[in-house]
Amino acid sequence: MYFRQAQAALPYQDRSEMATSIPTIPSDNELDWESHRQRFPILKNKTYLNSCAYGALATDVITALHQYIDDRLVKGTDWDYWVKQNETVRSAVANLLGAKDDEIAVTTSASAGINSVASALDFASEDNRNKVVISDFEFPTNAQIWYAQERRGAKVKRVAEKDGYIPIEHFADAIDEQTKIVAVTQVCFRNGARLDIPAIAEIAKQKGALMLVDGYQGLGTVQFDVNEVKPDFVVGGMVKYLLGTAGIGFLYAREGLIEKLTPTVTGWFAQRDIFAMNTKSYDPSPSARRFEMGTPPIPNCYAAAAGLKVLDSTGLPAIERRIGELGNAIIQEAERAGYTLATPKQSGRRAALITLRTHDEQQLVGRLDAAGIVTSCRFNNIRIAPHFYNNLNDIDTLFRELSRHKHLLT
Ligand SMILES: Cc1ncc(COP(=O)(O)O)c(C=O)c1O
Repeated sequence: MYFRQAQAALPYQDRSEMATSIPTIPSDNELDWESHRQRFPILKNKTYLNSCAYGALATDVITALHQYIDDRLVKGTDWDYWVKQNETVRSAVANLLGAKDDEIAVTTSASAGINSVASALDFASEDNRNKVVISDFEFPTNAQIWYAQERRGAKVKRVAEKDGYIPIEHFADAIDEQTKIVAVTQVCFRNGARLDIPAIAEIAKQKGALMLVDGYQGLGTVQFDVNEVKPDFVVGGMVKYLLGTAGIGFLYAREGLIEKLTPTVTGWFAQRDIFAMNTKSYDPSPSARRFEMGTPPIPNCYAAAAGLKVLDSTGLPAIERRIGELGNAIIQEAERAGYTLATPKQSGRRAALITLRTHDEQQLVGRLDAAGIVTSCRFNNIRIAPHFYNNLNDIDTLFRELSRHKHLLT
């Protein structure tokens, strides 16, 4: 209601059309996937298969970002209102993970969450645990931050991949009574392999180690409930499958653990009472807010809340099924054409990202881009990353174009 008044007051915008053109989302059992596509204007111009890097921009997110500007112009300074945007994101992330609001820190990146957790760990403590177990599949940030802890007494153990996957036995061999934390990615950003996170979490628990999951490449495409998997921490961010924007992320921290950990990377938004303006001591919040730092990324909160709402209204079970179907189609087409998959074929070992081996990934991504097909690459893999807004025509278009560049594929 307030937004409508603000719209009328502002001369530069005419978003009434945009707001009414957002299609009604059908219920889970009668999903009309084509209607979802209209929410993502880029799909009119591009075959967009790069959600592992950047999710497609939804009209809902565009509207939310405009609303941020409206609110600033109309409200001036309304600190409580901005803080409310942050809390909306906190609740939406809690909802995504099956967590409580108090278990969620809203951060500016996945790195910020990992750093905050790392800062709270004592690697020289009497429990004799200074080992950090990571894997060959980590996104650089979840390796670099832990290697940085070696200056504080940590010893990093990197679990090796074998033939494009990391068997659970490799984790079982690495995690032991000296392990302080196991910090692993849910899905590998390079080849799309999905690790068996519940099994790794179980091993970590048996050995008395903490468990942190980097869910950035998986959350929003596959269901993940902290009550089932029981990790201690989960980090992620909003720029990819969660449909928000860059510059905002989150950390889940398990309820019973939060008050036992005192981050030494901190800031005023991590305090028990933010507005106490206390300059005499450090008094961390009893909730996961203690893992936050400074002023929240408010514009990004608007975008993130809108993106998460799109996901929630579509429904993750349906999204997961849809992504599974699209992944199957990609694999089928790749095998028919004789291309080499870098992603495991088994459905439980992959999420949305499917990768193919190439001789020249930059050239191939460039050629596809010239044909209006957006993909990306890492090392010698081309990354094909659909979301629920893609369809089988997109896959067809991609493989038709790939067949023109067979020489670049292995
Ligand atoms: C698995 C994974 N973790 C983390 C990140 C990024 O983390 P941050 O939010 O710190 O930039 C990415 C991609 O950007 C990723 O793919």
